[in-house]
Formats: sequence, C-alpha cells, structure tokens
Amino acid sequence: MSRSSPLELGLSVKKEAPPCTLVIFGITGNLARIKLVPALYALHVKGFLPEIRIVGFARRPWDDATLKRTMEEALKGQILYREDRAASFLTTMTYHQATFDDPEGYRTLASRLLPGGEVIFYLATPPQNYPEIIEGLGEAGLASFEGRPVRLVIEKPFGRDLESAGELNRLIRRWFGEEQIFRIDHYLGKETVQNLLSFRFGNGIFEPVLNNRYVDHVQITVAEKIGVEGRANYYEQSGALRDMVQNHLLQILALTMMEPPLRFEAEAIRDEKVKVLRALAPPQPREVVRAQYTAGVLDGAFVPGYREEPGVDPSSTTETFVALRTEVRTWRWTGVPVYLRTGKRLARKVSEVSIHFKRVPHTFFWEAPLEPGENVLVVRIQPDEGMSLRVNVKRPGYRMDLRPAWLEFDYERSFAEDLPEAYERLLLDALIGDAVLYTRADEVEASWSFVDEVRRGWEETGVPIHEYAPGSAGPREARYLLSREGRRWRIL
Ligand SMILES: NC(=O)c1ccc[n+]([C@@H]2O[C@H](COP(=O)([O-])OP(=O)(O)OC[C@H]3O[C@@H](n4cnc5c(N)ncnc54)[C@H](OP(=O)(O)O)[C@@H]3O)[C@@H](O)[C@H]2O)c1
Repeated sequence: MSRSSPLELGLSVKKEAPPCTLVIFGITGNLARIKLVPALYALHVKGFLPEIRIVGFARRPWDDATLKRTMEEALKGQILYREDRAASFLTTMTYHQATFDDPEGYRTLASRLLPGGEVIFYLATPPQNYPEIIEGLGEAGLASFEGRPVRLVIEKPFGRDLESAGELNRLIRRWFGEEQIFRIDHYLGKETVQNLLSFRFGNGIFEPVLNNRYVDHVQITVAEKIGVEGRANYYEQSGALRDMVQNHLLQILALTMMEPPLRFEAEAIRDEKVKVLRALAPPQPREVVRAQYTAGVLDGAFVPGYREEPGVDPSSTTETFVALRTEVRTWRWTGVPVYLRTGKRLARKVSEVSIHFKRVPHTFFWEAPLEPGENVLVVRIQPDEGMSLRVNVKRPGYRMDLRPAWLEFDYERSFAEDLPEAYERLLLDALIGDAVLYTRADEVEASWSFVDEVRRGWEETGVPIHEYAPGSAGPREARYLLSREGRRWRIL
C-alpha cells in the first residue's frame, strides 16, 4: 500500500457533529451489535464522535452493566479494538428498558436525554415496530423536544409496496417534518457508491459521453454468495425484488443516470434522483426473469436449495434471483437498455455498475483478426473497490492487431487509509444532519411504484420461477434476456 499517494490528502477533512443524545431502539438486536455500535466505536476512535450519550432501548431486563459487557464483547472483534478506548467509549452508553407499546417508556425516556444538544432516534427494529415507536415518540412530545433539533433514522425495509410505504410516510409526517427524517439505504454509505457522484461530476471527460449517443447499455449487478442464512421468515415475505432492487439497485441506477444537481446538497441531489426513478419504464413480462437456487455443491460443501432451507415453504415461489430490463425514458437516456440483476448463492459476491459504450462506427484495421470490442467503464462497489476502463490497444508485433486492455483505479492501492464502513459515514451524517446519503419520501415511493409494476406484470401473466445451481451466474433465462439483443452479462 503506497503511503505517499497525493490522493491521501482528501481524507483529512473532518466533519464536526454537535453534542447529542442518540437513542437506539432495538439495542439488543443484531444490527445494533454487528453494525451500529462498532461504527460508533470507530467514529469515537477516529475522533469524530461529539459529546454524546447513547441510550439503548429494548425490552429484555438488562441494566447498564449488561449492555456495556455485551457491547464490549461485540467490539473485541474489531481491528480498532483497544481496551482503554473501548472503556472510554462505553461510558457513553446507558440502557433503557421498556416495551415499544408502553407510553410510560417514552415519558421516562425524556429524562434519560442529555440536558442540551440534538436528539436522534434510530429505529433498529423489525419494521412492524416502526408505527408504534413513531406514535410513542409523537404522543410523548419527543418529535419536537424543547425546540432542540430532533431526527429520526429509519432502517430498511421502508414499506413492502407503494401503499405501505405511503402509509408509513403519512404516519411519520403526523409528528416529524420531512427534514427530520433520515431513511437509510446502507449502500449509499459505501465509498464507491459516493464515488459515482465524484467521478461523474468531478471530471470533465465522462459526462459528455454518458447519454444515448454514446452508451449502448448499462448493467447493474449486486450478487451475493450467501443463501438466506436463517432470515427465511423475512425473506419469504420479501424476495430479491423487494429486498435488493427497490433500494440498492435503484439507488445505484439513480446516481449513475441522474442529471447534474444544482448543488451538492441533499434536496438538489434527491430532486434529480427522483426524476430518474419516475422515468423508469416498467419492464414487459418477457423482460423479467425470476428464479430460485437449487441444492448443490458450493466451495466443496453441500448446500440446500431455497425450498429446503429451514423456515421456507417447500412450495415457495419467492425469488432469490431477479434480472430485468428497463429504460430511463428521458431525453438523455431513452433507447439505452438498463439491465439489473441480483441474487443469492451466486458464483461471487460482487456489486458493480458497468457502462458499455457503442462500438466505433467504422473499422479499418483490416489486419486485425478481431473487431475492436466495446469500451466498458466499470465502477466496482464491492469487493476490490475501484474503477476500470476497457480500451482497445495494439498488441505488440508487426501486425495491427487490437486487443482489449484495462485501465485500473484501485482504492486500496491508491489511498493509504482503509475505507470507512458504510454505517460510520451514515451515522456521522445523521449526527451532523446531512441527508445527502439518505432517501426522501418521494424517492422511496417512486421506487416502490416501479417494483409494484414489475410484480403486477408477473402476477398477471404468471412469469415462471426458474431454477439455478448454487455457484452459477443465475438461470440461463437471464442470459437470454441479453443474448437475444446481442449482448452479454459481465462475467460473475
Ligand atoms: N441485521 C442486519 O444485518 C440488518 C442489516 C440491514 C438492515 N437491517 C434492518 O435493521 C432492523 C433491525 O434488524 P435486527 O436484525 O437488528 O432485528 P432483531 O435482531 O430482531 O432485533 C430486534 C430488536 O428490537 C427489540 N424489540 C422488538 N420488539 C420489541 C418490543 N415490543 N419492545 C421493545 N423492544 C423490542 C428487541 O429487543 P429484545 O431483544 O429486548 O427483545 C431487539 O433489540 C430491521 O429493520 C432490519 O431489516 C438489519
């Protein structure tokens, strides 16, 4: 890793958060333990955490000592763990025991807040608890507390269709203003997702060619190697379309294809993203492929099929893979297919966007055995975060023989620091009150509206559920989605 890279300079910029109380609903849960508390600890170690009190809200009969002991155990696996630093971090934590439906629990919560500063309520609970917590906070007067800045951070999933998302938005707005609401899509906290903005609008050379004159098509892939991993109860109700497309894939799509915002600030960026989401063409039933993984061998071990996973209905039709073709019907993008795919138990864990450019209009390299291939710009979101550009170069020798080569930018090699975890960035932004990386009500509703259209299409026409082997690139029908138009997915 180079220690002298000039690119390091940008990393020293520090965001200052004011004093605050952070109330985490669901502190004893999985998300709090594996993501939120480690991210807060990392911010503490790096000196970004303000004067803070972290109040953990849950129902089991813990006290402060149990909470601190449990969280210390969770921190021990962190690279940044050091006993003295963990001890100073844990002094900020306190436990508040109550059930979400108990009004008394919210009244007594008020007395646990720091006497001044901002107040942030973080809902790290199953989504069915959101309404009662929001009502509880509202009824107790905590949504606008003593004239202090109050924010509400809400985890995904935000609704399960347009109707439920709209209902939740209306309920929240009875008590909170839109500017107080921070809806999380943790993908937006990833450095490379943010890099989509810097690469597009911080460079002069890409923007002029990102349109239907030069781009042939766009691919967005979010592939996982794991299966449902004990989350069958949730996943059976969700499936890949709701779990991944509605949020992560459509957010990446919006950032890749939106117009330049007026300013680098939340409202301006979200104004542009929502236009893209509203311009999405619902796919025809033949432009959607859904499938489930079967049993098989992955990395030398036998893995069950989706229908054999504990908690899954043996006749389930929930999709663990979805691929679809859409288009952004705007002046800039009409005519450019956008192919999305996501699934579990695939060959590799990878998230990336690739922009495939049109081929040269005329080729005069008559000696070359191969036509020059398309230029492809790849933004790798995870793993191996970076960007690559495929160009055609002359192969050394006496003939004019063209071969593809990759120009590479690799985050790890270029910068001397580790990339922050997505939750570190998102939590810091919530503490500061910067909503650039959070989604707005109209964005969430526009993406649900698209997803509902896809579902309606496959329910009305009975889009079949195909199968794919674990460790594969998905069902062959997904290949046909592109091959019948003379295109190919990038290799997984
Ligand atoms: N887990 C992840 O990696 C992950 C990733 C991304 C997003 N998310 C989202 O994050 C949210 C939380 O997920 P999770 O996996 O952390 O959930 P979880 O492990 O089931 O935790 C639920 C938490 O809510 C508390 N709780 C539930 N009902 C309660 C009630 N009636 N009164 C008081 N407390 C109650 C539980 O407290 P007790 O323990 O005291 O019962 C526990 O602290 C979900 O919306 C999920 O979709 C999770």
